[in-house]
Amino acid sequence: MIYQIYPRSFLDTNGDGVGDLQGVIERLDYLQWLGIDAIWLSPIYPSPMKDFSYDISDYCDVHPLFGALATFDALVDAAHARGIRVILDWVPNHTSDQHPWFLASRSSRDDPKRDWYLWHDGAVDGGPPNNWVRAWVDEPAWDFDPTTSQWYLHCFMAEQPDLNWANPEVRQAMAEVLEFWLARGVDGFRMDVIHLLGKDPALGDDPEDLKVLSHVVLNDREETHGYLREIRAQLDAHPTRPMAVGEVYLLDADRVATYYGQGDELHLAFNFEPLFQPWRAEAWRGIVDRVLSSHDPRGAWPTWVLNNHDAPRIVSRVRSAERARVAAVLTLALRGTPFLYQGEELGLESVLLNPGEVIDPGFRDGARAPMPWDSSPSHGWASETPWMTWPPEASERSVEAQRGVAGSMLEFYRDLLALRRREPSLQLGDFAYVAAPDGVLAWSRQGTGAPVTVVANFTHDAVEVPQRGEVLLSTIGSRGSQFDGLLLGDEAVLLRPEA
Ligand code: NOJ
Ligand code: CA
Repeated sequence: MIYQIYPRSFLDTNGDGVGDLQGVIERLDYLQWLGIDAIWLSPIYPSPMKDFSYDISDYCDVHPLFGALATFDALVDAAHARGIRVILDWVPNHTSDQHPWFLASRSSRDDPKRDWYLWHDGAVDGGPPNNWVRAWVDEPAWDFDPTTSQWYLHCFMAEQPDLNWANPEVRQAMAEVLEFWLARGVDGFRMDVIHLLGKDPALGDDPEDLKVLSHVVLNDREETHGYLREIRAQLDAHPTRPMAVGEVYLLDADRVATYYGQGDELHLAFNFEPLFQPWRAEAWRGIVDRVLSSHDPRGAWPTWVLNNHDAPRIVSRVRSAERARVAAVLTLALRGTPFLYQGEELGLESVLLNPGEVIDPGFRDGARAPMPWDSSPSHGWASETPWMTWPPEASERSVEAQRGVAGSMLEFYRDLLALRRREPSLQLGDFAYVAAPDGVLAWSRQGTGAPVTVVANFTHDAVEVPQRGEVLLSTIGSRGSQFDGLLLGDEAVLLRPEA
């Protein structure tokens, strides 16, 4: 169970309005109490912050806003002392345009770092080299640089030029970055947009109808798998066997599964299909089928993600806290590794900003509101005015307001995490559907420890289901100890089935 921290929005300890690493250190006891195994830190590197540290100007340091390397070291020690592993975000596809590598690369066509990025002549009409578009807006993925009269590729903002992974010096430099952090004790890496590393050297156009989201020509290339095998060999050679989870933003479980290679590429890959599905049992059954049928044959272990810093929060998507609990059961009781995102356990909703208040160039501010720790005006932060507005009902949903309160979202998540920890079958057991009426998804987990049956109602209506057994947990809160087959609307139950 991996818990994503977006450090900017976690906890500010020095009053500058921005969350920091000291804030993470101070809340490790909370995370241990919650019952997580590992934290993934979104980027903490020096950065001009055009994309909030996903535009990195130094891969081997900490942005002063977040702290210093010494703070990071203290965080790793403090996490390890609590049995919590630390996974660092690694952004290998692009740097900041302020990174010394890019400053050198753009300075002249003869610079030794020229080929570290993707420079090309324009098309004959004077436009960009091809029709590739960048993320978030329908604009070219190329910028013209008058100094050397060529175009450079940037799959994201112009301030995030793409590295040329075909160049072995680039691969070597990025491998050294991994070594730098491994030497500081990190347990693994979350690898940003890893499916983008390889680029079509022929610069073929994307088909017009597919270019925006899928970039079918630009990304998901065979070369990337070779790079991943190199990275995996490097990690495997390390005595601590660090873990690699990749962001493979392809929305296609078959393609995502290929990034596990033959057990020689990623350990885990994000599957983001659930972020875009309607709240319907058949839709979720479709996802589960696609994930298991594509991952199982190659021994690829799935991941389940409901929230991250790029997507609207689950409570807002399904428009109900009750359904969000059912969704939490899916994440934590389907077969695979669950990822939670800070504030998910509080049932936070996305912030709706007025157009003038939007900060993020990718319009993803909604899920990035600060964590409310208590119900005071500053919600536990060292400043009352954080870099971004508080989430809806911050006082009512704060950690302080929910902790120890039976039936709260926070206590529900904690119970569910504890149950998953207690029941080996929820972690490792086989998955099989069991009979369920329309609108309900039911499955069993067994083969490792005692079996558990999960029954999840996607509808508002109570319904009779064939399952019986001892109630291990219900999203509704207190229930009798025996399940008699009447599942309430928007309820999920976890049962020890009758023998
Ligand atoms: C994916 C990250 O999750 C997102 O926040 C970022 O903007 C892009 N990659 C570019 O690094
Ligand atoms: Ca701060």
